Amino acid sequence: MIKPKVGRMFLATCVGSFFILILYFQSNSRSLDQSAVASVLQGRRGHLDEACRSYIRKRRVLTPEDLRHLIVDDKHGLLYCYVPKVACTNWKRVLMVLTGDGRYRNPLAIPANEAHVPGRLRSLSEYSTTEINRRLRKYLKFIFVREPFERLVSAYRNKFTRNYNTAFHKRYGTKIIRRHRADPQAEALEKGNDVSFEEFVYYLVDPRTQKEEPFNEHWERVHSLCHPCLIHYDVVGKYETLEQDSRYLLKLAGADQEVQFPTSSKSTRTTGDMAAKFFDNISPFYQKKLYNLYRMDFLLFNYSTPAYLKLR
Ligand SMILES: *[C@@H]1O[C@H](CO)[C@@H](O)[C@H](O)[C@H]1NC(C)=O
Repeated sequence: MIKPKVGRMFLATCVGSFFILILYFQSNSRSLDQSAVASVLQGRRGHLDEACRSYIRKRRVLTPEDLRHLIVDDKHGLLYCYVPKVACTNWKRVLMVLTGDGRYRNPLAIPANEAHVPGRLRSLSEYSTTEINRRLRKYLKFIFVREPFERLVSAYRNKFTRNYNTAFHKRYGTKIIRRHRADPQAEALEKGNDVSFEEFVYYLVDPRTQKEEPFNEHWERVHSLCHPCLIHYDVVGKYETLEQDSRYLLKLAGADQEVQFPTSSKSTRTTGDMAAKFFDNISPFYQKKLYNLYRMDFLLFNYSTPAYLKLR
């Protein structure tokens, strides 16, 4: 008898906060575009709920290990799940400004490598179960996602085609070349610095890869990094609309007077068809395998199957 009652009360609370939210948006009159963004985000949120219901069979309990990517801002009551290659450096910088006791003001003044130093920001996994649950219940949870293959190509270009990324070349490149290149040169085996996109794809879809260790976070699926069907993110921002979604979020968090999301000078976005070029010389067989690997990220975040793929 207790359960339904609690359920109804919970529902009442939800409906209540829903109305408060509507009032909040209506009273905020200068933000016509803010409310337009709100309705897009609400649609996205609804899509995620639907998709989780249709595609995820098994539900399981979260462990602290699952929460490593959630960054905590206790001052503003925020939880941000960072996804590499989706403006996460800038979001980490913004959170350093917000949590930093006035130490930083301008996010862009924080060197990029500084933003990734472990320990600068707190991860939800560091807290006790009680503290974790309290934050999951009360805080505004958000995530930013990106078209999965655009993100993947961006990770490939950044980690395998830049001379300075020697750590990735050594750690992953040498292994990829050893396994996936016929007749490799000694120098390539030693340096691992000339992995082709095709070889990278072979590595990703090779069942041995994930048996040995989890994917590196730069190419791990958002679904596995942030558990969007287990954690109810209030806001699902998109890289494709980064500026407006970020502005919306900071306003919602009441932090828009303290910090502005950095607008990038480089036009790194609108790269709509960058991925198409890279998939051109991947055979349909491997295109399909790769699509299956990233399928859940396409489905959960409402990205349509790229037209350039040859899936049949
Ligand atoms: C899903 O994507 C389609 C096509 O891009 C779009 O028209 C639609 O509004 C999106 N749905 C939601 C709920 O965001």
